[in-house]
Amino acid sequence: MRVLGIETSCDETAAAVVDGERRILADEVLSQQDDHRPFGGIVPEVAARAHLEHIDGLIERAVEKAGITFADLDAVAATAGPGLIGGVLVGAMTAKALSAVLKKPFIAVNHLEGHALTARLIGNLDFPYLLLLVSGGHCQLLVVEGVGRYRRLGTTIDDALGEAFDKTAIMLGLGYPGGPAVETWAAKGEPKRFPLPRPLKGRPGCDFSFSGLKTKVRQTVEALPQDENGKLTDNDIADICAAFQAAVEDVLANRTANAIAAFRARHLGPAALVVAGGVAANAAIRKRLAALASEQGFRFIAPPPRLCTDNGAMIAWAGIERLRAGLTDGLDFAARPRWPLDPDAPAAAGAGVKA
Ligand code: KG4
Ligand code: ZN
Repeated sequence: MRVLGIETSCDETAAAVVDGERRILADEVLSQQDDHRPFGGIVPEVAARAHLEHIDGLIERAVEKAGITFADLDAVAATAGPGLIGGVLVGAMTAKALSAVLKKPFIAVNHLEGHALTARLIGNLDFPYLLLLVSGGHCQLLVVEGVGRYRRLGTTIDDALGEAFDKTAIMLGLGYPGGPAVETWAAKGEPKRFPLPRPLKGRPGCDFSFSGLKTKVRQTVEALPQDENGKLTDNDIADICAAFQAAVEDVLANRTANAIAAFRARHLGPAALVVAGGVAANAAIRKRLAALASEQGFRFIAPPPRLCTDNGAMIAWAGIERLRAGLTDGLDFAARPRWPLDPDAPAAAGAGVKA
């Protein structure tokens, strides 16, 4: 079984071929970071145009590198949401056209399901498992009960974690995307010099909040002396990054510990904690979560960084999982900007916000 996976929901244009034996036969990713850097963030229209320009070439290259022809594909999968709708449309329409021409099934993949199932692409892992999904647009704790079956335990009441990393980086003049830069600077800093809040830490439940942390970072930056170009000293930048990274780790560990307890209350037997999404590429966060999992007797799984950030392999793999479950889609499937994994989940509550 071989599936082509197409990903265009954010700022990576990607196409990959994965087979039923979990082999990634080709995995082409083209980052648009250079296109968006001058704007300090992703510009949806720029993203959509760049996807349109590159997607055909990437697909051709992926099929060629996989050593197959289009006729050897069993299905064509594409992210159909959630994400920036202009980009999502480019990938989904391309996949539908290929599916029509090849007379092979089309599979509409939820981008979040792509991240969620990546752990099963890299190794043996049975349902159910606990998932911390941390990306540029999402911060959620979920129980993955099966393909298409998710129970959300908590989500963010304001910013996503990747967004908090990116905004912190911009305030410090570290450019876009911010996550990797903040992580690198944090390793050189002193985490205790600037006290930063740990929003919702110690409260019951599994929701998150990052806007108060972001505000405190801004106030800390503004209170420090800056040179004529508005830059802080390298020491100040490193110490703020270290403080931010430490606060984030504490919050994630606390909320995930609550989720582990909630998971344990319903599921006996072997258990695993999976971390996925772009922020899961952060080595310090992985280390902290690995320690928590091991304390709690949970297996810990974090995909290699390349499979944490957006890619086509995770979409192809989700396509394989769905194809096996007999879940294919019609060509009238509408791309969507919002698409929760657990539409029945209660709204997030915390920090004064009522459910
Ligand atoms: O999953 P992803 O590639 O795209 C979305 O679906 O959002 O996640 C991108 C996010 C960005 O906010 C980026 O700054 C963050 O993941 N990120 C990181 C790291 N690498 C990427 N955040 C913290 N540490 C990293 N090493
Ligand atoms: Zn993503």
